[in-house]
Amino acid sequence: RKGRTPEEVVKKYLQKVKNPPEEDCTICMEPLGGPSGYKGPGVGPVSKAESVGRLAQCGHQYHFQCLVAMYNNGNKDGSLQCPTCKTIYGVKTGNQPAGKMEYHVIPHSLPGHPDSKTIRIIYNIPPGIQGPEHSNPGKPFTARGFPRHCYLPDSEKGRKVLRLLLVAWDRRLIFSVGTSSTTGESDTVIWNEVHHKTEFGSNLTGHGFPDPGHLDNVLEELRAQGITEEDALVE
Ligand code: APR
Ligand code: ZN
Repeated sequence: RKGRTPEEVVKKYLQKVKNPPEEDCTICMEPLGGPSGYKGPGVGPVSKAESVGRLAQCGHQYHFQCLVAMYNNGNKDGSLQCPTCKTIYGVKTGNQPAGKMEYHVIPHSLPGHPDSKTIRIIYNIPPGIQGPEHSNPGKPFTARGFPRHCYLPDSEKGRKVLRLLLVAWDRRLIFSVGTSSTTGESDTVIWNEVHHKTEFGSNLTGHGFPDPGHLDNVLEELRAQGITEEDALVE
């Protein structure tokens, strides 16, 4: 990916559109037949022939410059996500700060999983300084409640979820830096979009067991981050 400009990244995932439909671009809300509503730094000129593109897999169409502006707003990792249907092009990564993920099996069963032992995952992230991939570069961030302990049944499906969580960790997608919806604190490490169970034998927070749908929900949330079973096989 190194050396690829934002324009080149976006172009890689686009097909040409000769005659734009009479619809608005849902990024800038301006007609696809006219110019992009995006102007200013980072948005270079574009020829008429390339002003609209179709995302190759999902087919949604946008102004080329709108997609470039959207890409520049993200963490510029070479991936692109369709803002309409969330299809991911390339490999999506996040901005989780440096830290450690460990796990081991403990010889106890979780409520609702009487036939399985338990996988305990321990996440540890120290406080630090935000980088260019965060919303306030150069500003410190706090890290509350670490190490955070999380639980999965040590069943076939639980182990599959673990494998995918390891991929999510490598892609920096388990945590993010932002404002905690629980405490209201800003510039702090927060869970990203993948739910974890942090209670073992009780369910006082709603983040405990039993919860029959939990593993399927997590698999769905991982899929929304672009992580599927194939990823666990190749990595
Ligand atoms: N356990 C697991 N997930 C949680 C918890 C929790 N105790 N609290 C919130 N979440 C989920 C929320 O449902 C939401 O989807 O994390 C997501 C982000 O919520 P925030 O409150 O912004 O996240 P964060 O500040 O990281 O979490 C708050 O979780 O593990 C604990 O020690 C941590 O007390 C802190 C709490
Ligand atoms: Zn547009």
